[in-house]
Amino acid sequence: MTQHPRVVSNVPALRRAIDALRRGRATVALVPTMGALHKGHLALVRQARRRAKRVVVSIFVNPTQFAPNEDFGSYPRDLKQDLTALAEANVDLVWAPNVKTMYPDGFATRIVPEGPAKAGLEDAFRPHFFGGVATVVTKLLVQCSPDIAIFGEKDYQQLKVISRIATDLDLPVKIVGAPIVRETNGLAMSSRNAYLSEAQREVAASLHRVLKDCARRIAGKEHIARVLDECSADIESVGFTLDYLEARHADSLAKVESIKDGPIRLLVAARLGATRLIDNVAV
Ligand code: PAF
Repeated sequence: MTQHPRVVSNVPALRRAIDALRRGRATVALVPTMGALHKGHLALVRQARRRAKRVVVSIFVNPTQFAPNEDFGSYPRDLKQDLTALAEANVDLVWAPNVKTMYPDGFATRIVPEGPAKAGLEDAFRPHFFGGVATVVTKLLVQCSPDIAIFGEKDYQQLKVISRIATDLDLPVKIVGAPIVRETNGLAMSSRNAYLSEAQREVAASLHRVLKDCARRIAGKEHIARVLDECSADIESVGFTLDYLEARHADSLAKVESIKDGPIRLLVAARLGATRLIDNVAV
């Protein structure tokens, strides 16, 4: 049986463990997660393995990025299964603080991101989200002091927000985005897919089909606003409630009107029953 990686859950133990990992000038990559690990996370770990000598994975379901009406309480948690997966992926260290360790009594400091965090995408529907992500990710980067940190492109706006923070705060870390990992039917892997029934999974897969079609039409120089309108209707016709389907500049997330304003990224968020899904593709 493969041995579980070492798990630390307080900051002094983390610091000692990271110092030990760094011996011999070894580089460290961090993969921040909220656990409930799936193949998408394991692809991030593999990418981390390729880019650094040592790999640290953090597992922390961050309460400050959930609104009171969201799924913090029911968010899937299975540390035992996560540790088994991380052992097989040959991870060196797991940083798994509890809420009191991350936000001790008296905690009173927050990062308030702007720029990509105010692009009118996720922030328009989850106004609390990027403040919570920015604060916890900044803490994780300071706590683990990695050379590289890997984030999935599925949370595309989040990746842009975190890159901006690292640049703006001169954090000595390289932020790397990793491609979306999909089920064979195209559904982007997400811990929240666990909420979907079998029938909903099939419907959910159509989100990616429509996105790809939308990207193909925009690349073929069709009128962007018209394509977005028609693809939005397609998404709603299979049973989704659409939050947004937008064509944005792939780096700045600014709105684009023509293919000439690109490179373009299409981003979508839609709800299927109680489950909210996000996805994106390059044009
Ligand atoms: O993408 C996630 O899983 C989370 O938002 C992150 C980056 C681990 C911060 O809690």
